[in-house]
Amino acid sequence: MTSVNQDANWWKTATVYQIYPKSFCDSGAKGTGDIQGIISKLDYLNKLGIDAIWLTPVYESPMVDNGYDISNYFEINPDFGTMDDFEQLLALAHERGIRVIMDIVVNHTSTEHAWFKSALGDLSSPYRDYYIWKDPIDGGVPNNWQSKFGGSAWTLDKATNQYYLRLFAEQQADLNWENPKVREEVKGIISYWAKKGVDGFRLDVINLISKQQDFADDDTGDGRRFYTDGPRVHEYLQEISDSVFQKYGSVTVGEMSSTTLEHCQQYSSLDGKELSMVFNFHHLKVDYPNGDKWTTGPFDFIQLKKIFNHWQTGLNGKGWGALFWCNHDQPRVVSRLGDDQQYRVESAKMLAASVHMMQGTPYIYQGEEIGMTNPGYTSIAQYRDVESTNMYEIMVESQGVDCEEMLAILRQKSRDNSRTPMQWDSTQYAGFSKAEPWLEVASNYSEINANQAVSDKNSVFYFYKKLIELRKEIPVITDGQYQDLLPQDKAIFAYQRTNAKQTLICLNNYYGEEAECVLPTDIDLSDARVILGNYEHSIGVARHQILRPYETKVILVDN
Ligand code: GLC
Repeated sequence: MTSVNQDANWWKTATVYQIYPKSFCDSGAKGTGDIQGIISKLDYLNKLGIDAIWLTPVYESPMVDNGYDISNYFEINPDFGTMDDFEQLLALAHERGIRVIMDIVVNHTSTEHAWFKSALGDLSSPYRDYYIWKDPIDGGVPNNWQSKFGGSAWTLDKATNQYYLRLFAEQQADLNWENPKVREEVKGIISYWAKKGVDGFRLDVINLISKQQDFADDDTGDGRRFYTDGPRVHEYLQEISDSVFQKYGSVTVGEMSSTTLEHCQQYSSLDGKELSMVFNFHHLKVDYPNGDKWTTGPFDFIQLKKIFNHWQTGLNGKGWGALFWCNHDQPRVVSRLGDDQQYRVESAKMLAASVHMMQGTPYIYQGEEIGMTNPGYTSIAQYRDVESTNMYEIMVESQGVDCEEMLAILRQKSRDNSRTPMQWDSTQYAGFSKAEPWLEVASNYSEINANQAVSDKNSVFYFYKKLIELRKEIPVITDGQYQDLLPQDKAIFAYQRTNAKQTLICLNNYYGEEAECVLPTDIDLSDARVILGNYEHSIGVARHQILRPYETKVILVDN
């Protein structure tokens, strides 16, 4: 029996695997995944070599936003199993040396939560002030803030003629963190899970919890500047960290929406006063032309490199970031920045190496390790995601966008692209379930599945396994300084990481044609060796070389 790594900084050389339980594995015949399904795949995860799993929410929930609308923070959603199942998962993961990270959603609760049910329609409810209520202005909404899922961020409580704030779906009411009782409740919730032995927490949209209290109209935007990285957010995080995270030694990762480097340096500062690390999303907006997600277009490669450079150099020695391309809110990266047809395997490996060799903690989202693709749905009836269906309605029905055009946008941008059932094998429903899944399986499951990947030594799976191992073996991957070697090159992303002893160079061709790579002359390549590549006959190390389509090479040099 192995046990979990006891080093307090274990997460700096670790890799985390994200599980979206609804789509991971169904142990029964329901068509939705569950905790016993996760347990049945722990050996698969162990083989991959990951150090921790992050479970997206498994609490009681009406599932309007697939669990990000929590109605009871202390119970497991019966669709996923029981508390016994959860405790079994925790024990069996720990036996394999795998830690467990839970998702904590405390910017908002479900409107089915007992607090909200008491607060709604009752000005004297002890829970009324747990939420954010405002009187109408000129007979309408209190301000022009927009929901992240489209439309106004306010919903009217008819009985009291006040609006409540909800930055996401109507069924996700924002909590009022100004109320100290809310903060005490949050501490109680997190302590409950920490006491059970949960090792860490991923904090959902945590930089939105402190709203500017004048709730002013935003004359230049959708309101986000009044609640993103808001006035008291650092104070609140320090309070929670001091009374819970530090006490239990929990690892924490905050999801930071539209944030800045300066705030993230503070959220993840090395003194550990707030969080261990942060997710930021700037690198995943390079395919939002003029900042607009709901349109199609190529990605801006030069900008991508610029963003990585900004964050890698800016966090070094100050904070810590999560490294990732994929999660349950993002399309599949191989379809997004790679080539999910001819060069699927090559581009999936290249994209993996290009973020895993940076500084931070890598996160792998289920299916990414086998190069799963977007499903390419052709009808709105195939979508389940509340954001996608809302946007379809707004853009097609209210704004008159052509429905075929909107479907093309969803094929690239919808969150359901990553939520399709995990492809385990080539049997019906990809081995995910014995019943018809809640969301249609991608039709390529007979070629792309975990069984196939595990039986092929050149698969994407073994490439990820190798990346996970390298992080543990080579310190410069954790502590090396980052330098972009060819910031203006139109096809090649080349960077180096350096510490006193070694230099690691990561070369990546981001396109489907051969590209010439000329490294700067001040790099000493005399002792250089290729430690990882995605083509069988690696040409070796030279200052001037041709990189094949989507080729990646990781080179180590002893200084
Ligand atoms: C986060 C989650 C996303 C959810 C939203 C509201 O961004 O990752 O899935 O819809 O928060 O909770």
